Amino acid sequence: MGLYSDRAGLIDSENAFKVGPYIRALEAQGREVIKCNIGEPDFPVPAFIKEEVKRQIDLDNTHYCDPQGLPSLRAAIAKQIAETRGVAAEAERVVVFPGGKPPIGLCQQTYCGPGDEVVYPSPGFPIYESFVPYVGATPVPIHLKEENEFSLSAAELATVLTARTKLIFLNFPSNPTGGVASPEQLAELARLIRSRCREEVRIFSDEIYEHILFDGERHRSIISCPEVERNTIIVSGASKSFAWTGGRIGWALFPTREEAEVFKNLNINYFSCTAAYNQEGVRLGLESPEAPAAIREMVETFRMRRDLVVAGLNAVPGIRCLKPKATFYVFPNVEGLCRDLGIFDAYESLPAQLRPRTSPSTLLQMFLLFVHGVATLDRKSFGRIGAEPYHYLRLSIATGTEELKKGLARIAEAARDRQGFRRFVDAGEHLF
Ligand SMILES: Cc1ncc(COP(=O)(O)O)c(C=O)c1O
Repeated sequence: MGLYSDRAGLIDSENAFKVGPYIRALEAQGREVIKCNIGEPDFPVPAFIKEEVKRQIDLDNTHYCDPQGLPSLRAAIAKQIAETRGVAAEAERVVVFPGGKPPIGLCQQTYCGPGDEVVYPSPGFPIYESFVPYVGATPVPIHLKEENEFSLSAAELATVLTARTKLIFLNFPSNPTGGVASPEQLAELARLIRSRCREEVRIFSDEIYEHILFDGERHRSIISCPEVERNTIIVSGASKSFAWTGGRIGWALFPTREEAEVFKNLNINYFSCTAAYNQEGVRLGLESPEAPAAIREMVETFRMRRDLVVAGLNAVPGIRCLKPKATFYVFPNVEGLCRDLGIFDAYESLPAQLRPRTSPSTLLQMFLLFVHGVATLDRKSFGRIGAEPYHYLRLSIATGTEELKKGLARIAEAARDRQGFRRFVDAGEHLF
């Protein structure tokens, strides 16, 4: 009998966090790294929220609290969802979690088992795929296409839905592509899901980037389509909207009170509750008239950086980058760059046992980090299954504008550094 259960080996991870130790090691050697790897706004939490959290701590609101989430916060969430999505939403169907991430795995544990199929976008947030083998279900990635601006059509979804489909992850606006969906598209997806799936199918609509849209785009949710209102779980949180990744407050609105009870019980088992003083801060964030201006200022900065970075990347031979309509990521196609730098040839000549552990865009990611000091993420950081034909990088633009300019100059330099890439591969380190 070994130390670990069979299950323990089945869960994958999130590369954005794994790159951190490499960056720290390079910095310890005195190297400066431009950090475009992690998805967290480089803004402080809005001052009015910070003040409220401090006040709550001074009020000794530092004890266990309702494991489902503070009733006052749940009421604010239900109101916000009802107003922005045009649906009924009651506080009794809302559950507060330590972030938007926990419901991803908890929903898979709750709704899925062997024989159930979990549909999710690829490229997509890696945790969707990571959990599927862990719960013994079957992963069904839908490969989103650059030519469709990484959105999802009903025709594409139709190719993967079966009688065994149990959970469908949707993520608009999307990490890593910034893709959004129009109301017409969502209506078609909703009609398709209703006509093809069982009554118990659940749509996990990850809307954590609901406030970060550009160019007059409005956030749309599939829950607004009546056909699937009672099949949809809305998930969002404070990490991105309030630049508060460390506050660990996320939430979900479930289709029924009974389901919310199940998740409340999971909270009791796993977390007991989330910090009451932070929940009060988020409540104020949702209710305060100061919040929209704070969010707008951050979004305007992201828009300006998006324009800068997309133009800068498109000026590099071998890179092609769409202009995302939302989020703080850009997702350039680097196939041409991989060809120009000799990355495909280098990949093909790697020992057979090494190749499955890396990919052309992984070699590019590592070359950019270790030789040119720019931290990005490769394509397979956003779903491994079936990712082999695709060659992309994700860059987070939630990093300082001056740093981004420096990062762009370094990427342009790297694109001319064929010799440097050869030396990097010959040295044989950090190839995966
Ligand atoms: C699509 C998506 N969902 C969920 C999360 C998790 O957010 P949180 O920090 O609130 O757990 C992230 C974070 O990057 C994300 O990009």
